[in-house]
Amino acid sequence: MDKFLIQGGKALNGKVEISGAKNSALPCLAAALLTAETVTLHNVPYVKDLITQRRLLEDLGATVLTPELRTHKITAKNIETFQAPYELVKTMRASVLALGPLLARFGQARVSLPGGCAIGTRPIDLHLKAFEKLGATVELESGDVVARAPNGRLVGTDIEFEKVTVTGTENVMMAASLADGKTVIKNAACEPEIEDLAELMNRMGARIKGAGTDTLEIEGVEALGAAEHTIIPDRIETGTFIVAAAITGGEIEIARCNPDHLRAVIEKLGEAGVDIEELNPSTLSVKRSAGGLKAKDVITEPHPLFPTDMQAQYMALMTQAEGDSVIKETIFENRFMHASELIRMGANIAISGNEATVHGKTQLAGARILASDLRASASLVLAALCADGETMIDRVYHIDRGYESIVRKLRSLGANIERITESTASSADAG
Ligand code: EPZ
Repeated sequence: MDKFLIQGGKALNGKVEISGAKNSALPCLAAALLTAETVTLHNVPYVKDLITQRRLLEDLGATVLTPELRTHKITAKNIETFQAPYELVKTMRASVLALGPLLARFGQARVSLPGGCAIGTRPIDLHLKAFEKLGATVELESGDVVARAPNGRLVGTDIEFEKVTVTGTENVMMAASLADGKTVIKNAACEPEIEDLAELMNRMGARIKGAGTDTLEIEGVEALGAAEHTIIPDRIETGTFIVAAAITGGEIEIARCNPDHLRAVIEKLGEAGVDIEELNPSTLSVKRSAGGLKAKDVITEPHPLFPTDMQAQYMALMTQAEGDSVIKETIFENRFMHASELIRMGANIAISGNEATVHGKTQLAGARILASDLRASASLVLAALCADGETMIDRVYHIDRGYESIVRKLRSLGANIERITESTASSADAG
């Protein structure tokens, strides 16, 4: 298993370009299953989860051409099977995004029921209830979810999610796009990734209104067709690099981003003593304020409020801020695993239920630590970058799922980081 070896204490300076959003590319690749014509996606991030999603499409019978590393031309013309296999789903929950399109286009879908993961049980009950409301039958057969639309077509209806669910909203939006009649989704997720998916689907001929708000209206159509689309920048990678500048005391120019997609993060980090200047609509210049970092409380909530995917990175930053900050996690039930590793580096963090109180500023010291999930890994890399001495982070395959060429990008900013791999050097990160 790969490890990262990091010598901390160096300020990061220079320019970094943000990759495409993992959490938009995943549903957009799945949406290509809705048509037999070719869907071309640009700015697909070169990360493990997208390699997995591509394999899933190919296992189902689609062809995926990549004329350029980050351009995927998907043609789901000869779909031979409607089953997403367990071995793929167990490595990536987002495989469940195949359910909606397969059910919509072929009237059937079989996806291994995803297990929980490090950050929580992560059920998909809300997805399945919504499919049933669209007229599907949903059964559990030896660990697989088997969904069928009687006489092959779903029927539009009104759906209200009892809880905001990002992939639930995406799955139902895709299912409803080919249903008979109109579907209204209330309490829909408002994330930018939902808007990006809706933009792609409308280019394919879907009729979706309200994306980015909590109410979606989808007029079902007979069929969807070819489209070309560029994936939005990754707002969480953007937030992660803003923290990297602030936690190391450097100055970074962050290009190819979209500040409008992370207003709550920019506002909170601004309060906490990070100077964030918008040089143009797709470029930020960030550095720690002269007055230093200040402890500020934060609560994670659905978009447009502070995203849970930035909570771990924010906690690392708060270890370097003067004062006590309370971090409340309201989305997932077990998303503080990074805290114990930060404590091993010298952080002063007390956990009580879904609240973590960070007492800063504490000087962190390098240590051997373990990554547990994607965003926890990012948090530990950020902590290691500002710690005294050497840190070895194990199980960094977690970070490879959602950060493209993280070692190359950090080294280009002056970080002393290298990937220790047991096999050949990872091509994505050479150098
Ligand atoms: C998406 O996960 C993201 N993943 C997650 O990013 C992100 O943390 C999450 O949304 C919240 O913003 C992708 O988009 C691929 P949810 P998702 O359904 O859709 C509960 C990352 O780091 N729930 O919005 O799986 C659920 O348990 C990943 O990139 C149900 O109870 O999250 C959670 O408590 C991690 N039943 C809450 O709702 C359901 O049927 C929000 O989950 C569905 C969800």
